[in-house]
Amino acid sequence: MSKLWGGRFTKQTNHLVDEYTASIGFDQKLAEEDIQGSLAHVTMLGKCGILPQEDVETIKGGLNKVLEKIRKGEIEFSVSDEDIHMNVEKNLIAEIGPVGGKLHTGRSRNDQVATDMHLYLRKRVVELSGMLYELQKSLIGQARDNLDTIVPGYTHLQRAQPILFAHHLMAYVSMFQRDIERLMDSYKRINVLPLGAGALAGTTFPIDRHFVAEQLQFDRVYENSLDAVSDRDFILEFLSHASIIMMHLSRLSEELVLWSSTEFNFIELDDAFCTGSSIMPQKKNPDVPELVRGKTGRVYGNLMGLLTVLKSLPLAYNKDMQEDKEGMFDTVATLEGALQLFAPMIATMKVNKSRMREAVNKDFSNATDIADFLVGKGLPFRQAHEVIGKTVLYCIQNGKYLLDLTLEEFKQFSPLFDDAIYEVLQPETVVNARNVYGGTATEQVADAIKRSEVLLRMTEQWLEEHQ
Ligand code: ARG
Repeated sequence: MSKLWGGRFTKQTNHLVDEYTASIGFDQKLAEEDIQGSLAHVTMLGKCGILPQEDVETIKGGLNKVLEKIRKGEIEFSVSDEDIHMNVEKNLIAEIGPVGGKLHTGRSRNDQVATDMHLYLRKRVVELSGMLYELQKSLIGQARDNLDTIVPGYTHLQRAQPILFAHHLMAYVSMFQRDIERLMDSYKRINVLPLGAGALAGTTFPIDRHFVAEQLQFDRVYENSLDAVSDRDFILEFLSHASIIMMHLSRLSEELVLWSSTEFNFIELDDAFCTGSSIMPQKKNPDVPELVRGKTGRVYGNLMGLLTVLKSLPLAYNKDMQEDKEGMFDTVATLEGALQLFAPMIATMKVNKSRMREAVNKDFSNATDIADFLVGKGLPFRQAHEVIGKTVLYCIQNGKYLLDLTLEEFKQFSPLFDDAIYEVLQPETVVNARNVYGGTATEQVADAIKRSEVLLRMTEQWLEEHQ
C-alpha cells in the first residue's frame, strides 16, 4: 500500500529517508494510548453528527480488533508507515476497508501524538508515585527497627554529632515525599487534552473537545491550539522531577556503598541484591546502588537533551519534537528499574547496630555537648568552643576519647567541669538532648515516624483516586 500522505508526491520516498524519519521503532510503546484516543475521537465524531453512527461503530470495531492484534503481537509494524499513528490507521483500513480512512477527520497527527503522550505520562506518574511510596514504607520500616540505633552523623564526611540511624533514614522519607508531591502536582498539567487543536489552528469540523476530554478523563482542554501541539513542558517537567528523584536515589546509593564497605561495615545488603566477582571469590559487590548512581547521568542527559531540542523552536509543530520520546521512555524505564529494586533492597538490608555503636564510642562527636555544658555554666560559647578544642587536641595527643578523661584532666581545661559531664557525654544523652521538632531525639523521631504515616495515608488515597 502507498503512503497515507502520498497524493502530492510523484516519487517513492528514498528508503533511507523512511528509516531516518520513522519513529515506529520506539513510539509503538504508545499503541494502547493511540487507540484509546482514537476511540474517544471517533465516538465524538458520531455524537457531533460528523460521521454516521454506522461508520463510527465499524471504526470502533476495527480499532478494537487492531488493538487485540497488537496485544497478541500479530501486527508487524512498518517503517514506511513512519509512526504508530499511521501504522494503526493502515491496519485499521486493512481490517475494515476505506471507511477506516474517516477516522482522521478533524484531527492531525500533531494533536494526536500530543494526546498519546499525555495519556502515557499520566499513567506513569501514578505508577512512579506508587513505587516511591513503597520505598518510603521500606525506609519507615527500617526506621522503626532502628529507633535505638545510634550512629555517627557526618558533615564534610567527618564525624559531626551522633544521631539516630532512624533519623538518617527519615531524611530520605522526607526527600521522597517531596518527589511524590512534585509528581502529584505535575499531574494537573499532564491531565490536559490537546486533541481538537488539529495541525495547529483548530478544525473546520464542529467537534466537541470537552466531550473527548470527558471520555478520556482529562480535567481540561488546552486553551490555545498552537500551544496544544507545541507544548512539551509536561515532559520537561517530568524529566526534571525524574532527575531530582535519581539525584536522591544516587545520594542514598552512595551511602549504601560506603556503609557496606569493610571500613564502615554499618550495613549489609542482602545477598539477593548483590553480585560477586569473577576473579575475587571473597567479593560481594553493591552493584545495584552503584548502577543507580551511574544511571543518574543518563536521566540528567535526557532532561538536557529535550531542553535543547525545544530551545528556539518556532511554533507550532516541528519534526524535531519527535525527539521527545526516546529520552522520556528511557527515563521511565530507568526510574522504574531503580525503584523496583530499592524498596525490597532497603527492607532486607541488615543493620549492624553494634558496629555503629562502636563507631560512636570511638569518636569526638559528643564534643559540641561539652561546649553546651560549659555554656550552661555561664561561659560564653566562643570561649567554651576554644576550651573543648584544646581538650580534644589533648585527647588526640594522648590516644584517648572524651569519656576516658578523669575529672582532674577535664579541670585542667576549665574549673567549671564537674561529675555531671560523664552523663552529658553519653551518646544517648547527646542524641536525646536534641529534643526540638525535626531533631534527632528519640521522642522527636518517633513523632516524625507517626507523621510520615499520615502522609502515607494521603498518598494511598491519591493513588486510589488516580488509578
Ligand atoms: N511521529 C511524529 C512525532 O512523534 C508524529 C507527529 C507527526 N506530525 C507530522 N506533521 N509529521 O512527533
